[in-house]
Amino acid sequence: MDTHELYEVFKKKVIKRKKEFGAFMQMLEKETSWLTSPASTRFHLNKEGGLLEHSVGVTETLLKLRETLAPRLSEETCVIVGLLHDAGKIGMPGKPRYLKNDNAWEVRNRDMTYKVNPAETYMNLAARSLYLISKYIPLSDSEAQAILYHDGQYVEANKEVAHRETPLTLLVHFADCWTAHIYEDGHSVQEDDTYYDKKE
Ligand SMILES: [Fe+2]
Ligand SMILES: [Fe+2]
Repeated sequence: MDTHELYEVFKKKVIKRKKEFGAFMQMLEKETSWLTSPASTRFHLNKEGGLLEHSVGVTETLLKLRETLAPRLSEETCVIVGLLHDAGKIGMPGKPRYLKNDNAWEVRNRDMTYKVNPAETYMNLAARSLYLISKYIPLSDSEAQAILYHDGQYVEANKEVAHRETPLTLLVHFADCWTAHIYEDGHSVQEDDTYYDKKE
């Protein structure tokens, strides 16, 4: 299944909060750059639709981890957290965070296909995700923690959550890293526990 087909399948897994989730997704799809936004300016999936591809990929990995490690966790929770953890990357409705970079030198030499909208009000991205989602969807405490701290200890400010992570926070953090570093960067895992670039 491709990204768009998986996206539709995953959205259907939200049942208890279908109404609230549906309203948020409708707003994201109609009023923001959700379906077209890249996932970053120059790192992973810095192309049109990159954010959706990343979000669907993380959800897919998270659902696999759930099945193996935490089957009591609801699929609904995994979809809400996995699909929306980076929702803050859209910026705000009507104010996209990423704009096409018009600096040809930066595009050519630094692969910076997008730039951050200079008009944005700065906010930590995970905090922005939580802010946007919680306007529409009621979240459990652990869903809120997982969204806010999904970058784990890669982000210095996240030290405060160290050793206090819920299982969901640990799982979404790992799903995010695995999806971005292994799948999106095109690595394949070898028997001896190293990985190689598929393109080599
Ligand atoms: Fe993120
Ligand atoms: Fe992410």
